[in-house]
Amino acid sequence: MDGQLNHVMVPKAKQDEAARQAFVGALRKHMQGSLTPGNQAVYHERIKPAFVEAHGREPANRQDVASVMKADPYYQFWSALQRVSQQAIWDSVTDVIEHDGDRLNAEADMLATKKPAGGSLSLNPNLAMPSYVTAADIHLMPGSYVGDGNAEMRQGSLYDRGLYLYIGGQCGPENDGLSYMLNGAIKARFPDFAPKRILDVGCTIGNSTTPWKKLYPDAEVIGIDVSETMLRYAHARAEGLGVPVNFVQTNAEFTEFEAGSFDLVASCLLLHETSASALPRILAECRRLLRPGGLMAHLDVPQVLGLSPIQAFLTSWEEENNNENFAHLIREMDLPAVAREAGWPAEAISQPNIPMAGAVDVRNYDASRQLAWTFLLGTA
Ligand SMILES: C[S@@+](CC[C@H](N)C(=O)[O-])C[C@H]1O[C@@H](n2cnc3c(N)ncnc32)[C@H](O)[C@@H]1O
Repeated sequence: MDGQLNHVMVPKAKQDEAARQAFVGALRKHMQGSLTPGNQAVYHERIKPAFVEAHGREPANRQDVASVMKADPYYQFWSALQRVSQQAIWDSVTDVIEHDGDRLNAEADMLATKKPAGGSLSLNPNLAMPSYVTAADIHLMPGSYVGDGNAEMRQGSLYDRGLYLYIGGQCGPENDGLSYMLNGAIKARFPDFAPKRILDVGCTIGNSTTPWKKLYPDAEVIGIDVSETMLRYAHARAEGLGVPVNFVQTNAEFTEFEAGSFDLVASCLLLHETSASALPRILAECRRLLRPGGLMAHLDVPQVLGLSPIQAFLTSWEEENNNENFAHLIREMDLPAVAREAGWPAEAISQPNIPMAGAVDVRNYDASRQLAWTFLLGTA
């Protein structure tokens, strides 16, 4: 393996498959380290000067940059390679699951029966899937979060291994760095915060759920998602890792948990994949679920507010080319205003600008170097 923790639910590649994954991983890292920054050089050296000459002013926003950058051969080359390498990630994992799927299913059955860590799984076969989850293969992952709806491990396993390659291991060996970063943002503001009941919303495979149990061992930790197949995998994964978490299939817009029953309601990268109507409903539901003194904490993709026009343009690649169909909403959203409309008092909401280095415990993961993650905090 290449740094990902080789836990029992990770699909086991044969030698040639591992070599293919290593190639895809190296290509992605090369793109991120060299080719993506090359867009900036191209922009400053030839795109911006040509724009200024033609318009008598500098590009003011990402739309200005798009109008010229999309015709540039370097950008076209980079964009095509970015798309093809994204597809190659999933292809390189799918082939492994083809031959390792039976083992993964057997391991999951065993873990779900024995529950060595003592966690649980509660499914709701009647839950309706929101259309914003099922409409597209988000990140180009075949089958997206829901797959064909069966109980097999293939979809979760594809996500777990594919995510590691996708982000170049930036979130650490267990793909779990985001919750550590979010906890760092919380602790920077509320150093004594010690939640006893924690809800992780939109938990997928539970990679950002298990850290909450490690950070707060005395707390009850619950992860929710709409996807049965992801939750089955999350349960097996957490049990395999020895971390007791309870997973529940429910919709974050209207859960069936009791009002005022959580100290912390958190999410990592959920909000940008929900619709304009769902997002305020989720914020309102977070508020309903919190006890007095409890905390809502969301971490999500960088917003374009405050970014330079070229940074904002490059950020929007995901929306146009990677089936991130709703991300444009949150990129330009006044999140505190949306929270207020969803019922949060103005003084309870903050959108801290967290300097990544130093203040945030991400165990030196590379994710901390990313600029401008979006944080939204709400105190009940
Ligand atoms: C980008 S993934 C979250 C990733 C994960 N939290 C992490 O840290 O890696 C978004 C997840 O949210 C789930 N989701 C989307 N809308 C939801 C909703 N209304 N209620 C519950 N889960 C939802 C999707 O099924 C998907 O698994």
